[in-house]
Amino acid sequence: MNPEFWHERWRQGEIGWHEAEINVHLSDNWPRLSVEPGERVFVPLCGKSLDLLWLAGEGHRVLGVEISRLAVEAFFADNALHPSISEEPPFLRYRAAELEILCGNFFDLTKEHLDGVRGVYDRASLIALPPEMRPGYAEHLQALLGVDVKVLLITFDYDQSEMSGPPFSVTENEVRELFGDRFDIEPVARKDVLAENDQFRQRGLSHLLERVYVLR
Ligand SMILES: C[S@@+](CC[C@H](N)C(=O)[O-])C[C@H]1O[C@@H](n2cnc3c(N)ncnc32)[C@H](O)[C@@H]1O
Repeated sequence: MNPEFWHERWRQGEIGWHEAEINVHLSDNWPRLSVEPGERVFVPLCGKSLDLLWLAGEGHRVLGVEISRLAVEAFFADNALHPSISEEPPFLRYRAAELEILCGNFFDLTKEHLDGVRGVYDRASLIALPPEMRPGYAEHLQALLGVDVKVLLITFDYDQSEMSGPPFSVTENEVRELFGDRFDIEPVARKDVLAENDQFRQRGLSHLLERVYVLR
């Protein structure tokens, strides 16, 4: 799952993960994090997610990171936003009012980029990565965060032998292994969503649990 894989997905428009609506788990569960309006929130591997807009609408200053320039430009164009663009090697920083996206590699972020972040929203980011990359992702994310940051994490959990990722299956045990040293982990929702995701049934899945966690 190197950057070229993702660039190619965006070039081909193969972005089945992108949702045309705000994610319902975000609007239902974000208040559990008690991140106040005005506080900064981080969305790793943000794609062109509309959830960025929802978070900004809640009064947050929003920072996303996304490796594909096509995705970042589509996000602003689709939403009729006109960002300023500045070079901040190795990133390009796009900014429109309270919405910022750093276009570049998540693994190049430093603590300074996330200064003041109080909440994190991870949907389809951890599960976009193969098993061997997930410990590095979790470690880097935790290294970037200051104290008292909360995370809303949405994963898929399915029988990995039935389908190859992405999206990959991440069990509750793995979430605890990846984040349990630093965070209390509260599972807040789980639902079989196979019926609403026929493309995964066609790829061989017999069940597809969507799981939502709050990390404090
Ligand atoms: C499965 S998509 C999820 C996007 C978004 N979270 C959503 O819910 O629509 C994963 C995204 O991560 C981006 N990506 C993958 N590896 C990355 C990296 N190392 N740094 C920044 N973005 C990355 C891809 O280009 C892709 O847009």
